[in-house]
Amino acid sequence: MIAQEQLPMVAMPSMNDIHLEDMILINQLSSAAQGKNIAATKIFLEELVEHSIAHFSTEEAMMKEHNFPSYSIHKAEHDRVLKELNNITRIFSEGEGDFSLITSYVDGSLIPWLLNHTEILDTDTAIFLVNATKS
Ligand SMILES: [Fe+2]
Ligand SMILES: [Fe+2]
Repeated sequence: MIAQEQLPMVAMPSMNDIHLEDMILINQLSSAAQGKNIAATKIFLEELVEHSIAHFSTEEAMMKEHNFPSYSIHKAEHDRVLKELNNITRIFSEGEGDFSLITSYVDGSLIPWLLNHTEILDTDTAIFLVNATKS
């Protein structure tokens, strides 16, 4: 679970909105997995994959448009996490409801990554984009 106050705020409101939606989906996924609800866990995994694709591609399009210098570093992190999330979704869907896989991935990997990524790369990117759109 992520508490809203843990989520770092960046300089671009549209990015914060997407991060909040992300946090809500991650928390819904956590609750479904903790409640051992297979159908809900599958639905929130799928929704999280879809949302992450939109989240990452929105940031990547803005970075590309304004020639953000660390574009490839930032995109590589998105690609890695998306691959990981797709793998976890596939393993869970093919298995017999391994809920500990989901809870340990979300708490031990996805949430720490999201908080760190938002605090460092997204924060830098948002500052750059806000300045780029001003001029
Ligand atoms: Fe982001
Ligand atoms: Fe990002």
